[in-house]
Amino acid sequence: MSTTLVTNIGELVTNDPARNVGGAALRGEERIALLRDAALVIDGEHIAWVGAASDAPDADRCLDMEGAAVIPAFVDSHNHLVFDGDRSAEFAARMTGEAYDGGGIANTVRPTRQASDERLRELVAARVEQARAQGTGLVEIKSGYGLSVDDEARALRIAGEFTDEVTYLGAHVVPSDTDRREYVDLVTGAMLEACAPLARWIDVFCEPHSAHAFDGDETREILGAGVAAGLMPRLHAGQLGEGPGVQLAVEFDAASVDHCTFLSTEDVAALAGSSTVATLLPGVEFSTRQPFPSGRDLLDAGVEVALATDCNPGTCFSNSMPFMIALAVREMGMTPAEALWAATAGGAAALRRDDVGVIRVGARADLAMLDAPSYLHIAYRPGVPIVSSLAA
Ligand code: NIG
Ligand code: FE
Repeated sequence: MSTTLVTNIGELVTNDPARNVGGAALRGEERIALLRDAALVIDGEHIAWVGAASDAPDADRCLDMEGAAVIPAFVDSHNHLVFDGDRSAEFAARMTGEAYDGGGIANTVRPTRQASDERLRELVAARVEQARAQGTGLVEIKSGYGLSVDDEARALRIAGEFTDEVTYLGAHVVPSDTDRREYVDLVTGAMLEACAPLARWIDVFCEPHSAHAFDGDETREILGAGVAAGLMPRLHAGQLGEGPGVQLAVEFDAASVDHCTFLSTEDVAALAGSSTVATLLPGVEFSTRQPFPSGRDLLDAGVEVALATDCNPGTCFSNSMPFMIALAVREMGMTPAEALWAATAGGAAALRRDDVGVIRVGARADLAMLDAPSYLHIAYRPGVPIVSSLAA
């Protein structure tokens, strides 16, 4: 295995709690544990050394960053990438006042079922590559546009070709031609049986405010069946209004509850006393014209917050983590350091991973570099492609 020394890093965001960081200037900056004039050594797929450039050991080859900033690659913990079809007209309608209610999901199910395996694989590959080019190291991918036993299993199989973080979302919506009770039986029965071996997680679109999604009782039943089948729980909740999803996520010790656009005081308190991460998806608020939730209030209450793209054809067709950071800073009251943590270490926590989202010895060498001297530029230069994956 060959080693690479990455040196002359002007600013290294480590996210490593073991580092003494003294002198943090901005709120949240102590957490991202900055090292100036730093270097690191990569050995194969892992980080073998981190420290001051002046102390760096020799390696087989050397990469000079010329003072640029290096960060842990983004961990995008919420994505729906296995789909075909186009829904840009729905986006345009929302920009002139149409509300989102989940009904458009059917418009993706049709073309996705019709697409060949090869076509879907190519679409996912292109989306993953586009994310990688913008600094994302790990993506979670959900099913949810198949909604039949075979189509859900196929989506999970294709997702598994690109990531270990595969999520069974048969309970995305009740298909239009199907009885609700029969569909819940399918999702917890034959579909679960086919899908459980292909996934790590189970997710439900828990949203009593949508006629298409699932209520609290259905969510409890579906999550319970998934856990019994060996899957770990996570949830979509609080997207269209306050509901039972956040409390259910905490009750099930879900790794993450995602959206959290609408939260009650009790929801925030429950999250604060739990190990469930609140994953905020500001691209969804942007693309649906919904109000942005307050990341500030969650952080101040002691909740662990993650940021993800929710890349999907309906509510946010963006896989740009830098854009999510910029939105979180501008619209959700988060500092640039808090937003960067949420997009890296926060995403890792939302997937219960400790080997990504951090730059320390032994972690995966998933790194991103900035065409800039400081991580602050991610939010400071929105829409400018300054972040890219660092291939050593
Ligand atoms: O996370 N809310 C549920 N699922 C997706 C949107 C799916 C769609 O509209 O195609 C989301 O927002
Ligand atoms: Fe989603």
